[in-house]
Amino acid sequence: MRLTGAAGMAHGEAQAFSFYRYGGEHAGFLLCYEGRFLAYANNCPHWNVDLDLGMGRFFDPRFDAIVCRNHGALFTPATGLCRAGPCVGASLERFSTVVEGSDVVVYIPAPTLMWRGDPGS
Ligand code: FES
Repeated sequence: MRLTGAAGMAHGEAQAFSFYRYGGEHAGFLLCYEGRFLAYANNCPHWNVDLDLGMGRFFDPRFDAIVCRNHGALFTPATGLCRAGPCVGASLERFSTVVEGSDVVVYIPAPTLMWRGDPGS
């Protein structure tokens, strides 16, 4: 997924995006943090709901953290690890990113097929 012009974001800015997986639409966001571009699923591991309540604000400089607007969980931007709140120790799903010119490309892994038993039987 290519986010056009996203490489121009400043520290703390984020851009929401959507992607398709498992037959449905899902949400993610790209955060510029200390010159890096970090992408995560917009899904809090506490209740599996959007972190931002649809407001598009993910980073809070007061805590130097990605914040879940539901119950205030704080996630370390560089890793996605929850360092405070009801899901401490859990992590946001992270996606790899590559800067290409003024764009940022986010790589969403394909779903993993799970076989139960021998598919040839
Ligand atoms: S839903 Fe995110 S902290 Fe509860």
